[in-house]
Amino acid sequence: MRLSLLFSLMLLIGEDWANAQQKTANYDESKIVPYTLPELLVTRDGKKITTADAWTNTRRPEVLALFKEHVFGRTPGNWGKVSLETRQVKKDALGGKATRKLIHISLPEHPSWAGMEVMIYIPNGLGHPAPCFVGPSFGGNHAVSTEPDVPLSTRWMRPSKDKGIVDNHATEASRGNESSRWPLEMIMDQGFAVATYYYGDIEPDHADGWKDGLRAALSKDGANTEWKNGEWGAIGAWAWGLSRIADYLETDSDIDAKKLAVIGHSRLGKTSLWAGAQDQRFGVVISNDSGEGGAAIMRRNIGETTAIITKAFPHWFTPTYATYSNNEAACPIDHHMLIALAAPRAIYIASAIEDQWADPKGEFLSGLHAEPVYALFGKKGYGVKEQPAIDTPVGDSIAYHVRTGKHDVTDYDWQQYLRFAKRQLGQ
Ligand code: GCU
Repeated sequence: MRLSLLFSLMLLIGEDWANAQQKTANYDESKIVPYTLPELLVTRDGKKITTADAWTNTRRPEVLALFKEHVFGRTPGNWGKVSLETRQVKKDALGGKATRKLIHISLPEHPSWAGMEVMIYIPNGLGHPAPCFVGPSFGGNHAVSTEPDVPLSTRWMRPSKDKGIVDNHATEASRGNESSRWPLEMIMDQGFAVATYYYGDIEPDHADGWKDGLRAALSKDGANTEWKNGEWGAIGAWAWGLSRIADYLETDSDIDAKKLAVIGHSRLGKTSLWAGAQDQRFGVVISNDSGEGGAAIMRRNIGETTAIITKAFPHWFTPTYATYSNNEAACPIDHHMLIALAAPRAIYIASAIEDQWADPKGEFLSGLHAEPVYALFGKKGYGVKEQPAIDTPVGDSIAYHVRTGKHDVTDYDWQQYLRFAKRQLGQ
C-alpha cells in the first residue's frame, strides 16, 4: 500500500512540477532574446526551394526527417498486421441522431499490447458517407460521451478526485467528464462524424508508462529498452494510434475517408500536429492550444520552455530534444516547420488568451512563418501579419484564432473548426 502510494506520488511529479513552473515562468515579451528561425525554404546543403515540387520531393522529406531525429523520434515500421474488429454498432445513439460504433484495433503479432478501443459517432440520415474528425481523448470514450452504455475504460488513468478516478481507474463517476470538449450533438448536426480513442490505450502518460504499452510491445528489448536518440517517444506513439484509426475509417463505407480532420488539445494537440505531419490522409489538421512542442515557436522561450517540457515530460519526445534546453538556437528546426509539414493541406491553429503558458503569440507566429510553403502551392495563409484581436478568426488554408478564456476546448473552438472543415473539405 505504502509503496503504491509512493509510486503514485512519483508519477505526479512531472505534472505537478510543470504546473508549479506556470507560476514562475517568464511571460514578458521584452525579455525574449532576439532569435533567427531556421530557413524553411533552403535545403541543408544550401539549395533554395522555389517550387512546390522541390518542397514536396526534396525539402519536405528533409524537414520531416529533422523532426524525427530531433523532436518526436522515428515511428518504427514493424507492427505487422492490424486487426480491425467491430465490437458494437448502436443505430439509435444520441437519441437517434447518430450511429455509435466501437472498434477494437490490435496487433496480432504483438499481443502484449492490449490494443485500442475506438468510439465512432456517425450522424444518421446524412445520405452520403460522413466526413470525420479524428482525435484522442484524455479521459476515455466514457468521458467523451455522456451515454451510460459506453463501456468504462479499464486502463490506467492519472488519479483525479474531480474526474472520479479511483486507484488509477475510471468509475461510474467518470462518465462524461470530458464531454464539454466534445460537443457530439453539435458536430452531428453539422454532418460530421467523430472517431476517438483514449490516449492511454497506447501507453499510460507517465515516464515509465511505455513499459505497459505499444512502445515496449514493438521494441525487441521490451520493457528493458533504453531509448536512444531518434527513437520515438509517447507523442509519436499516440500519433501512430490516430493513423490506425484512419486505417479503419478507410474500410467503413459510412465514412468519407477522403475527408478526415485530425484534432487534438494541448499535449494531444502536439500529437495531432505530428500525426498530420506524417500522415497525409488527414486533409485538415487542427491544433487546439498545443503550445510548447506543438505550434509554439521554441526559440521565443516564453511561457513553457524546452527546458521545462523535457524535464517534466521526458517520455513525450525523443531524447535528443532535451539537449536543446536553453540551447534552442542549436536546434535545426523550429515549430513553424511542423506547421509547414501540413502543406498544402489545411491547418487551423487555436489559442486561448488566458493560456499564456502555451504562448498564443508563438502559436500565431508559427503559422505566419509557414506561409511561404503554402504560397508555393498557390495557397493563402492568415491574410494578416499581426496576431488578430480576441475572438476574431483569420485565415484561409492556414487559419488562427485566439479566444476568450482558458486552456480548454470550447463550443466556440468547435464552431470555428466545423466552419473551417466544411470550407476546406466540402461537405
Ligand atoms: C502541461 C504541459 C503542456 C501540455 C499540457 C496539457 O501544462 O506543460 O505542455 O500541453 O500540460 O496537455 O494539458
